[in-house]
Amino acid sequence: MAYFPLSFFLLLPLLSWASPTPSESSFKNCIGIASIILNPSSPLYTQALESSQQNPRWLNSTSKPLFIITPLKESEVQAAILCSKKHKLQVRIRSGGHDYEGLSFLADTPFVIIDLISLRSIEINLAEETAWVQTGATVGELYYKIAQLSKVHGFPAGLCPSIGLGGHISGGGFGTLLRKHGIAADHVLDAYLIDANGNLLDRKAMGEDLFWAIRGGGGGSFGIVLAWKIRLVRVPATVTAFTVGKTLEEGATKLFHRWQYIANKLHKDLFIRIIAQNLGGSGSGIRASFNSLFLGGKETLIPLMKEQFPELGLQEKDCIEMSWIQSTLYFSGYQKDDPLELLLNRTTTFKAYYKAKSDFVTVPIPETALEGVWKLFQEEDALALMITDPFGGRMDEISASHIAFPHRKGNIYNIQYMIKWDVNSNEIEKRHVQWIRKLYIYMAPYVSKSPRAAYFNYRDLDIGTNKHGGNTSYSEASVWGKKYFKGNFKRLAQVKTKADPGNFFRNEQSIPLL
Ligand SMILES: Cc1cc2nc3c(=O)[nH]c(=O)nc-3n(C[C@H](O)[C@H](O)[C@H](O)COP(=O)(O)OP(=O)(O)OC[C@H]3O[C@@H](n4cnc5c(N)ncnc54)[C@H](O)[C@@H]3O)c2cc1C
Ligand SMILES: *[C@@H]1O[C@H](CO)[C@@H](O)[C@H](O)[C@H]1NC(C)=O
Ligand SMILES: *[C@@H]1O[C@H](CO)[C@@H](O)[C@H](O)[C@H]1NC(C)=O
Ligand SMILES: *[C@@H]1O[C@H](CO)[C@@H](O)[C@H](O)[C@H]1NC(C)=O
Repeated sequence: MAYFPLSFFLLLPLLSWASPTPSESSFKNCIGIASIILNPSSPLYTQALESSQQNPRWLNSTSKPLFIITPLKESEVQAAILCSKKHKLQVRIRSGGHDYEGLSFLADTPFVIIDLISLRSIEINLAEETAWVQTGATVGELYYKIAQLSKVHGFPAGLCPSIGLGGHISGGGFGTLLRKHGIAADHVLDAYLIDANGNLLDRKAMGEDLFWAIRGGGGGSFGIVLAWKIRLVRVPATVTAFTVGKTLEEGATKLFHRWQYIANKLHKDLFIRIIAQNLGGSGSGIRASFNSLFLGGKETLIPLMKEQFPELGLQEKDCIEMSWIQSTLYFSGYQKDDPLELLLNRTTTFKAYYKAKSDFVTVPIPETALEGVWKLFQEEDALALMITDPFGGRMDEISASHIAFPHRKGNIYNIQYMIKWDVNSNEIEKRHVQWIRKLYIYMAPYVSKSPRAAYFNYRDLDIGTNKHGGNTSYSEASVWGKKYFKGNFKRLAQVKTKADPGNFFRNEQSIPLL
């Protein structure tokens, strides 16, 4: 019993523990010997638990897994599911470990982690312009592999190279190519999934409903996706990036305001996001950085900017030409000439304590409201950020129910709010989390309504969680479910009911049974 988290008893005081903690040998015997199985007394346990935790807020958490299982082949994933079920343990699936609320490595109930880190092969078929990628691979590993074979192919996924393809594509996945090509989940052609009975299913075997649900319906609800078959996209040999920063004195508010009227209407080849942040301590200034990727050379970009967003005053000296793969380095905070091998690092350079939330904007926010945001940013001594990703383009052409990811036409942009701090304590964390909640309340009049939509991959447990240890009712779960999945939530619950009627795969925000 020693490893059961204290909070488990606090939350579920009436649930008596019928089956004793399975011994390591009984669990190992069940799974077979090849998988690496660690328990808390194993010397490598702490390292394995913490290494892919991208938000150290939970490093000292008391809710630790009884075992960490690292399968080396698919039959061991099947065994890990069946043995966890037999021993009445919940599972947490971990691919890249970037979950914003730590749901791939935390649980308030006895649980095991199935860590997919050793299942990360990437097989590219350039003639077919497709790839089979195992879900333990990261987006950086995928980008790197593509670039080794072709200078004119890419993939439309997220910016941070260490994100895992398991969670990322399950929840949608977008980055600088979204206006041209949509999201990562739009490019999934087939998949291998292991369900709660241990069956290995491809697209044909799982059927179109389940295949629909795993593309944007979020990880952790339907089974363990072992691999995706994806379609690569074409990129030009030369792309151009720029970052133009403006302070309030330099007109950041007016430019931000103006940007909202064109961001989703620009040429599809042009992606301009804004990173707005406070500078230094409280009472400090604000900077809005216009951060852009253009799929072409600067001789085309500069006249296009003159025509479509002249207010920014883009100049030739701001423009950096590079290959698409170099742009993936640039957008993850490196220099374009840095070694491409940096893309293979599975630890994010953004590792820090943070809390994030998200919104979608359908009507431009007035200047006075933006000024109110800056005021709130200036109350914070930690790094307060707001990243706006423009939609439109390809996103407007795909119907909201085509796959489970629902945020399409009508959205001008997505906002991600983030507060990051370096030194933690309960009191420090409470203060920052309260601050971002206050910002979220402040933003309510200016963002999407009924539902106030949110992006699943920017997971936020504040918007609601499943009750009763995950055995929630459909109507209880609708509170948060409709924010993430809008009109697709009901179909997701229908698919869940059919695919996993025992609700084996569950967590604080897993899809409920209908
Ligand atoms: C620094 C940073 C930058 C980011 N940048 C972007 C970005 O540019 N664009 C964007 O869209 N998102 C971005 N994200 C969010 C990211 O897409 C999500 O956090 C995503 O869920 C991470 O996937 P993961 O596999 O790394 O996470 P994990 O924590 O391993 O998994 C996330 C969830 O999916 C489940 N899961 C994981 N693997 C599987 C699987 N194989 N089968 C079924 N379920 C699974 C987990 O149980 C968990 O519930 C960023 C996150 C971070 C921390
Ligand atoms: C965890 O707790 C220890 C002991 O209280 C402390 O020294 C350490 O800094 C904490 N680590 C994190 C990441 O909070
Ligand atoms: C990977 O990146 C992290 C974070 O920037 C850094 O601390 C670490 O040294 C890097 N690892 C390697 C092998 O380069
Ligand atoms: C949740 O449902 C599962 C499957 O029906 C059951 O085994 C488990 O005991 C339930 N847990 C709680 C906390 O109700």
